[in-house]
Amino acid sequence: MASLTVRQLDEAIKASLRLRAAENGRSVEDEVRVILRESVGARRVTAGPQHPSVIQSRNARSGGTTLPRVTLIIGGGIAAYKALDLIRRLKERGIHVRCVMTRAAQQFVTPLTASALADERCYTDLFDSQSEFDAGHIRLARDTDLIIVAPATADLMAKMAQGHADDLATAILLAADKPVLVAPAMNPLMWQNAATKRNVAQLARDGVSFIGPDSGEMAEANEAGVGRMSEPAEIAATAESMLRPQGTQRLAGKKILITAGPTHEPIDPVRYIANRSSGKQGFAIAEAAAHAGADVTLISGPVDIGDPSRVNVIRVESARDMLAQVEKALPADIAIFAAAVADWRVANAGDQKIKKAQGGMPKLELTENPDILAMVSKLKANRPKLVIGFAAETENLIANATAKLKRKGCDWIVANDVSAASGVMGGDRNTVHIITSGRTDSWPVMTKDQVADALVNRIADTVGKKA
Ligand SMILES: Cc1cc2nc3c(=O)[nH]c(=O)nc-3n(C[C@H](O)[C@H](O)[C@H](O)COP(=O)(O)O)c2cc1C
Repeated sequence: MASLTVRQLDEAIKASLRLRAAENGRSVEDEVRVILRESVGARRVTAGPQHPSVIQSRNARSGGTTLPRVTLIIGGGIAAYKALDLIRRLKERGIHVRCVMTRAAQQFVTPLTASALADERCYTDLFDSQSEFDAGHIRLARDTDLIIVAPATADLMAKMAQGHADDLATAILLAADKPVLVAPAMNPLMWQNAATKRNVAQLARDGVSFIGPDSGEMAEANEAGVGRMSEPAEIAATAESMLRPQGTQRLAGKKILITAGPTHEPIDPVRYIANRSSGKQGFAIAEAAAHAGADVTLISGPVDIGDPSRVNVIRVESARDMLAQVEKALPADIAIFAAAVADWRVANAGDQKIKKAQGGMPKLELTENPDILAMVSKLKANRPKLVIGFAAETENLIANATAKLKRKGCDWIVANDVSAASGVMGGDRNTVHIITSGRTDSWPVMTKDQVADALVNRIADTVGKKA
């Protein structure tokens, strides 16, 4: 067809056509051609010069589909290469990805690679004459459903916490009105630095969600600790749960209190009594409950695990600290006590370091710690509707756990065999038995994440019935 004549359009349609054509830098005729092509299902629009940011914003709904959109801001850290995998993982989940790179990020990976993987231009410059003629950074901030910062460098988080906007990434973040998910990645010493901690706390107060960092080997030789960026598959799963929360929100509106990890009971200012609990199961439950939409407070003893996203994490040392925080966190709808709280503490703990050569070995007197599970189970006011305890046993598992259920007055006991042979303490797998009054369900060996999901599902079934 050489020409195109369209008559009998009302004024409102003509006005919108003229506006759309002007926005796209096309003639009205060309614009109509494009609309016709789109409506008959042509895969790619090729006609006429287009403003790149406009192409992007239209493609953001990917040819009229309703794909959720993520803006992925890639910071300048070693883990930037993992952000390339994250693009793929997000796309696998049907999420549209648009990338923005900081100047430092471009030292690690190229915008070309990110563009090729995202199938869309990667943005890098605030002062880009093409995309900024109409304040493109504001559109980039708005024309998305979620912003992910991965890897989030210490520097980028500092700028975010301070409200800087001196490059495209920070300008977008400052202008954003959508949720922000941050995946920090840095050397463990940078992560532990007081300045970084302040910035992370500030960002959490500002409503930013965090995932990770995880612990493990660092890029630097012989360095390990908390600071590794979370795995791309995990970040993509969290992003999806933030983008498509409906259907998975079985615990929406429920307040859940969870304890995890060991407690450290001081002997003197430098020594303590502890146990081998890693906190992995409690953290996995907190993450699964948050994923199911619950408002989760996780009170954890000293562990080497980063905060799960969208969970209020409170770190404590001793059983008495844990009890104080549990009391503060009540009331709650559901309480899950997965922490391995020390049964005893040292009654005669020294204020100063106990010296070695002072007439033989010191005599430590032990005294019983508060029983947090029993105390909460027996509350008259503010008792959570469902109180779940954990029983870690090395022998007579079911009998001991059943006795514990009665003694403590809780509703369920999750019993697990923590003998050395089971590998549960510190490991990634668990075999649990759910004991309620009159019924024991033995679950097969599962990863701790799977146990967490199954437990959260069972809680949701039970709470649903009770409601
Ligand atoms: C080889 C190398 C690796 C780096 N890795 C990290 C890192 O993993 N995490 C981090 O916070 N900073 C890291 N930095 C420092 C950042 O690149 C630097 O703070 C930069 O200003 C960050 O810029 P951006 O936040 O705008 O991306 C690294 C620097 C170099 C030279």
